Amino acid sequence: MEAKSKQRGILLPHLLRYSPVYIIGLAALFMVDYVQLFIPQFMGEVTDGLASRSIDAAGIGRLCMQIIFCGLLHLLGRFVWRYCIFGTARKVERIMRSQLFEHLETLPQRYYHEHKTGDLMSYFTNDLEAVRIAVGPSIVTAFDATVLTVLVLYRMITRISLTLTLYTLIPMGVLALFGYYYGKNIEGRYRKMQKAFATLQDYVQESVSGERVIKAFVQEEKQKDAFREVNENKRKASLHVVKLSAFFMPMLQFLVGITYVIAIVAGGYYTMIGEMTLGMFVMFNAYIGSLVWPMLALGDAITSISQGIAGMRRIHEVMDEKSEIQDAANPDPVETLSGQISLKNVTFAYGENLPDKLKDVSVEVRPGETLAVMGRTGSGKTTLVNLLTRLYDVEQGSISYDGHDIKQIPLKVLRENIAYVPQDNFMFSQTLAENISFGRLEATQAEIERAAVAADIHDNIMDFPEKYDTMVGERGVTLSGGQKQRSSIARALLKDSPILILDDSLSAVDTDTEERILENLKEYRKGKTNIIIAHRVSTVQNADHILVLDEGLPAEYGTHEELMAREGIFASMAHKQQLEQQLLAAE
Ligand SMILES: Nc1ncnc2c1ncn2[C@@H]1O[C@H](COP(=O)(O)OP(=O)(O)O)[C@@H](O)[C@H]1O
Ligand SMILES: [Mg+2]
Repeated sequence: MEAKSKQRGILLPHLLRYSPVYIIGLAALFMVDYVQLFIPQFMGEVTDGLASRSIDAAGIGRLCMQIIFCGLLHLLGRFVWRYCIFGTARKVERIMRSQLFEHLETLPQRYYHEHKTGDLMSYFTNDLEAVRIAVGPSIVTAFDATVLTVLVLYRMITRISLTLTLYTLIPMGVLALFGYYYGKNIEGRYRKMQKAFATLQDYVQESVSGERVIKAFVQEEKQKDAFREVNENKRKASLHVVKLSAFFMPMLQFLVGITYVIAIVAGGYYTMIGEMTLGMFVMFNAYIGSLVWPMLALGDAITSISQGIAGMRRIHEVMDEKSEIQDAANPDPVETLSGQISLKNVTFAYGENLPDKLKDVSVEVRPGETLAVMGRTGSGKTTLVNLLTRLYDVEQGSISYDGHDIKQIPLKVLRENIAYVPQDNFMFSQTLAENISFGRLEATQAEIERAAVAADIHDNIMDFPEKYDTMVGERGVTLSGGQKQRSSIARALLKDSPILILDDSLSAVDTDTEERILENLKEYRKGKTNIIIAHRVSTVQNADHILVLDEGLPAEYGTHEELMAREGIFASMAHKQQLEQQLLAAE
């Protein structure tokens, strides 16, 4: 019940908003059905007139005109209802799609880790489509079929004969049951076919993406075999659908045939004994003809509507997902940050029963200072950044900026004031200029270039044929790891935030380049705070503070001298790297 009330929350308001249009559409639909009733009647009248020779050419002409008039009304009504109802369904689909997308953008990273891209895509395609079909074509069909059945039956009973109508209702009822049964069964098979198709798609996509790995490990044959199997499954699933429809379609036609046989035998009998005129006989058969479609369509509509409900339910599961990271009820009125950061005794684990990844970390950074963070892979460096950018909340200890607890700072302000280069940096399929100005769309070309120069990527860019307008990604140039890193740094620099975080962003560049970039940073980021996660002792020796993490063990914290004197992890790392340097130099 609760799910249902929420379901109304996303679909119903939009339907209500468009309800006048919707009602006009339904009225037009009703008119079409009503007008349709007269055509068999006119045909009956022509027949009777001809049989009794009581009709003249002018009479036939008049009836023809009436039939044409009905036809025109039918045409107009059809246009109106299609436009109103299908149009509304498309609009509602579009609005819901945007809502869904906006909602997805608010979800935490965790959500994306836990859900497959293919599943997320299917909300936007299959599920929304099912909802649209339910509120558009299926509603039309259900309404149309019901109205038409009732009107036709009423006419058959009042204008022709109750008994005859009852006779033909028997096979008609069986037809409706068959239609419903068929709809239910084909649906399950159809879904399996769709699933097989999705698997096939996933497989092809992954093989294309992983093509280099496949070749490098000489796994083409195995891939081919596996593909053959996926492909075969798809064929089997499709055949399953075909088999059922191949059996049912003729069966349904057969039932329709039986109905006609009954109508002809019984109707013929009544006509012969004079209970019915020839015209009534013709009219009756024409009415039977217009009953066949509603009988079959109703089952279909019921299935599509239930599919729509299922789609809606899935969409609601997503819409009900809430990010646990939210703005405080009464956030502090913070608008900008100065770059002052303090961490007090932060201890953090990713889950209740998981081990601590950070233990008792305390750090104090003043505006304009640089904090270097070091540690082995898996030591918790990125975890620390996740806390600083509030992708996760701290439970023990506290993080504050300018004396405001991180939870009291509006998320938007927090993230606007931090420029962050993630470890797995990402380039969009856009031009380099667009990629770099991603965080500041209004940046001028000169500003973009200044950031690129500071990140030491400008010269590379100028070597590309289209310079800053070079496309990146699948349809453009492939950047090397180091080029990607430096472009990401340029993007972050251009954002010009009070706080910059580089998460292992210099790992793919050589030592000389790294030194150049760090040198440039001093100038570019004058007076602003930097947090640099790095591996080389040489990178961090000039930082104001150094934090060395060790996977949940107590961290080392201090200046370069302090840490060297302490002879802990940092000192041993420094010695090791120094030895490596000397060995390299000796070669
Ligand atoms: N989202 C997560 N959920 C659970 N464990 C995680 C998550 N992210 C990282 N970890 C774990 O936390 C530890 C530290 O990871 P991370 O901070 O990425 O290390 P680093 O950046 O220093 O290489 C690793 O053991 C990693 O497996
Ligand atoms: Mg990391």
